[in-house]
Amino acid sequence: MDWIRKDLLGIKGLSKEEILFILETAESFKEISLREIKKVPTLRGKTIITLFYEPSTRTRTSFEIAAKRLSADTINISASTSSYVKGETLKDTAKNLESMKPDVIVIRHSMPGAPHMLAGLVDSSVVNGGDGAHEHPTQALLDLFTIKEKKGRVDGLKIVIIGDIIHSRVARSNILALRHFDTDVVCCGPPTMIPPKLEELGVRVEYNMNRAVEDADVIMMLRIQKERGGVSYIPSIREYSTIYGLKATHLERAKKDVIIMHPGPINRGVEITDEVADGPYSVILDQVENGVAVRMGILYLLTGRVS
Ligand code: CP
Repeated sequence: MDWIRKDLLGIKGLSKEEILFILETAESFKEISLREIKKVPTLRGKTIITLFYEPSTRTRTSFEIAAKRLSADTINISASTSSYVKGETLKDTAKNLESMKPDVIVIRHSMPGAPHMLAGLVDSSVVNGGDGAHEHPTQALLDLFTIKEKKGRVDGLKIVIIGDIIHSRVARSNILALRHFDTDVVCCGPPTMIPPKLEELGVRVEYNMNRAVEDADVIMMLRIQKERGGVSYIPSIREYSTIYGLKATHLERAKKDVIIMHPGPINRGVEITDEVADGPYSVILDQVENGVAVRMGILYLLTGRVS
């Protein structure tokens, strides 16, 4: 197929064919990161800007590495060191950046819909690097890539998502992506952290952690989103950790070859114990490795799109 979209703003609206096409493209780029010289000339002459209004370690760095491995020029802008602190609006920032003719702008913003607004203002391609509690499409794509890589398939799997679902853009984008496959997706967390009518997205809701992880093929843990007020939704971190923290005893209830995922950053000892996060079932660092390949694939498709 040909890629025709200018922007990647969310999983919502993507077809299964488009999702699989991104994953196939990412697959073809993965081995570049394993070479001694990790660079190909594919995006020479292209300019990628990362514009981050919220903190990031994995997403921003992996976009920069992905762009550099494809020989693109990269510019990183953090809100704290930009003219945002002097009061410049996102619209003015967008128009000024556009004047410098970048090919792709990757934006992370606390305001849901900020990437969509930016995409309407600029000719450059826009990638959503996470917008509030709305979507984090590249995270869901790298999660899907990792599930496919480790399990050999997505169809037929029981995938359990546990934690602060209501504030999680990662959960939302994953649920939207997994809907395209024949999966049993179970969301688990305290009742206050489960959004109303979540089942309408095609998932099951289970409040009991032991029942949720029973025969799971994939367990995806989420961080409490303190920056979005997540802590006020639970009586205490200690109680949350006791009831909803993933421990080695839970793994005995899951499939023998269960994989443990987490988008990071991890709150060790809160949503997951060290033993599980660093244990043999954990694929958390594989997710990070695959993030580079997936973001290489996305930058390649957007800059080479058929118009
Ligand atoms: N998973 C993720 O988005 O991590 P960062 O916040 O470090 O980018």
